Amino acid sequence: MIRLNNVSKTFGTTCSLDHVTIAFNQGDAVALMGANGAGKTTLIRLILGYYHPSSGSVRIDGRDPIKERTEILKQVSFVPQLPPPIKLNVGELIAYVCRSAQVTEAAIYQYADEMRLDIAPNRGKSFFKLSGGMKQKLLIAISLAKQSAIMIYDEPTANLDPQARDDFYRLLQHNEQNKLALFVTHRIEEVKTIVNRKIYLDLGKVVSDETC
Ligand SMILES: Nc1ncnc2c1ncn2[C@@H]1O[C@H](COP(=O)(O)OP(=O)(O)OP(=O)(O)O)[C@@H](O)[C@H]1O
Ligand SMILES: [Mg+2]
Repeated sequence: MIRLNNVSKTFGTTCSLDHVTIAFNQGDAVALMGANGAGKTTLIRLILGYYHPSSGSVRIDGRDPIKERTEILKQVSFVPQLPPPIKLNVGELIAYVCRSAQVTEAAIYQYADEMRLDIAPNRGKSFFKLSGGMKQKLLIAISLAKQSAIMIYDEPTANLDPQARDDFYRLLQHNEQNKLALFVTHRIEEVKTIVNRKIYLDLGKVVSDETC
């Protein structure tokens, strides 16, 4: 589903990814690990078409994520490392997602409920003013409601309390079958029951890639 072929990405003199070749396939549930600055978020941004590779190629189902970004993002759910500075209120954000991504409000409410986030009293609140964990729960609920073939989570549990982490991993376990799920994480213990592949990056290179 996703192929990176000899991809490098440099920013000035920093080489964030260094000749990386990886294929991610349907059914893969991958923990992407590595020290701070190893290149994990850069790799994800290349997959999402946020960055142009400096060299090499990235293909999602054979397509270029930059040239065909809108089409490709329709089949991708993504929760970023830091919540984006969305100015809409919660109700407007949900309405926007439903319009643009064939998602129903009922599905978002259902997953929010499973994440123990009560949307109703927060509908009029600006997304920006939700607590860090509430933002993350809402983005997770939206990502699951979208039922995408590709699910990408960049350290999704960093702002979540322990109960919410358990809720998240339980939901993922029920939703990742026959999909491709990619988790950036520093806590392998947390994800070990939901992943079947572990990839370590170090200084922009893949240093290990093992099934488990
Ligand atoms: N937009 C950018 N401009 C300049 N440098 C960047 C940019 N994005 C990433 N980098 C650099 O690329 C390197 C890898 O960063 P990246 O965010 O991919 O690391 P990471 O593995 O996600 O780390 P963390 O665990 O801290 O999130 C770092 O040296 C970073 O400073
Ligand atoms: Mg990162």
